[in-house]
Amino acid sequence: MQSIHNIFFENSKNMSNIPSNSIDLVVTSPPYPMIQMWDELFNTQNTKISKYLSDNNGMAAFNLMHENLNLIWNELWRVVKEGGFVCINIGDATRTLNNVFALYPNHSKIISNMLELGFQSLPEILWRKQTNAPNKFMGSGMLPAGAYITLKHEHILIFRKGGKRDFKKSNEKKERRESSFFWEERNLWFSDIWMDLKGTPQKISDKKIRKRSAAFPFDIPYRLINMFSVKGDTVLDPFLGVGTTTLAAMSACRNSIGYELEQGFQDLILLGIDNIVSYSNDRIDKRIDKHLSFVEERIKNGKEFKHINNYYNFPVITKQEIDLNLNKLISVNTENKSKIEINYLENEQKDLIIDTGNGLKSKLLEPKLPNKKKSSKTGTFYRY
Ligand SMILES: C[S@@+](CC[C@H](N)C(=O)[O-])C[C@H]1O[C@@H](n2cnc3c(N)ncnc32)[C@H](O)[C@@H]1O
Repeated sequence: MQSIHNIFFENSKNMSNIPSNSIDLVVTSPPYPMIQMWDELFNTQNTKISKYLSDNNGMAAFNLMHENLNLIWNELWRVVKEGGFVCINIGDATRTLNNVFALYPNHSKIISNMLELGFQSLPEILWRKQTNAPNKFMGSGMLPAGAYITLKHEHILIFRKGGKRDFKKSNEKKERRESSFFWEERNLWFSDIWMDLKGTPQKISDKKIRKRSAAFPFDIPYRLINMFSVKGDTVLDPFLGVGTTTLAAMSACRNSIGYELEQGFQDLILLGIDNIVSYSNDRIDKRIDKHLSFVEERIKNGKEFKHINNYYNFPVITKQEIDLNLNKLISVNTENKSKIEINYLENEQKDLIIDTGNGLKSKLLEPKLPNKKKSSKTGTFYRY
């Protein structure tokens, strides 16, 4: 099994390298309108923006910045397949212009612009960023009618082009089953508020590059890719930054395409890719370990499992998880820096259980196994 990853250092307002109706999923985070760090970039796209900002005309600048993003959303409408998803991570901005403090609601502007293009809006995720810093309250302190709510969440907007995707052919159904995730992951990933992910610290020494980087944590694209696409799909990020979406697609056995204006990010992107084999395999091991702990805990609590996964031979909650298969990475080929290949282990099976220290086998056969009489289906355990 192989995946291919294209990276273009070009403006994504014209993605002519991508044929129409060819993208299964978009995962992205654009520059945030009205957040100061992006003023300069927006201004290079439309010089009227800095004029409006210096005239303190916040709403006019906000609208023009979104007009610029619309060029890219418009291209998404062309390249995304029927039934394909678009996930956009965006934060609202607060800003004081001419002594007037205001919120610029980027998320609602993007929703209305995407709806106008024809995308369907789906329930969204609020990413409540974990932080060690004490609450930063804004405004008049303990005196009423002049203090503002703290803004510590971002939005992950979710859209679909057209109706539900069909998985009709038997190979499509198989890919889908192999791309399933654990029941307990579903419970976390599909909740409407994500509270467990920290922002990503910017470890970049070059000042100019650091000014332009705002990477999201790996788990944001990694979860979204697992939630809204299947293995072998193509994932696009039109605002690639340091390449987090590409890395997540590599880990999840999907192809990817990224567009980034800043050529200076190339070395950082390649650095991430150079480490992707060990990083991904470690991530996969952690998912499996977490599942094994979940299994152990459930058994301790006297609960039962009705199904066994065909590849790993461990219990899973639902029938949908029995073909779940997390392919480990074997190698990466970066000879061509804009078209990178990843090779995967076909089916790493069963003996993975032995890799888990003292062994799942013994863990599962501890005396607290559910009472055999209660459910004959739990008998599948004894396949060990
Ligand atoms: C918020 S950052 C994305 C960060 C990314 N999610 C990551 O994890 O590194 C937005 C990125 O979009 C890039 N960008 C802005 N406008 C662009 C355009 N029209 N075409 C391509 N890239 C663009 C910026 O240079 C910046 O790196």
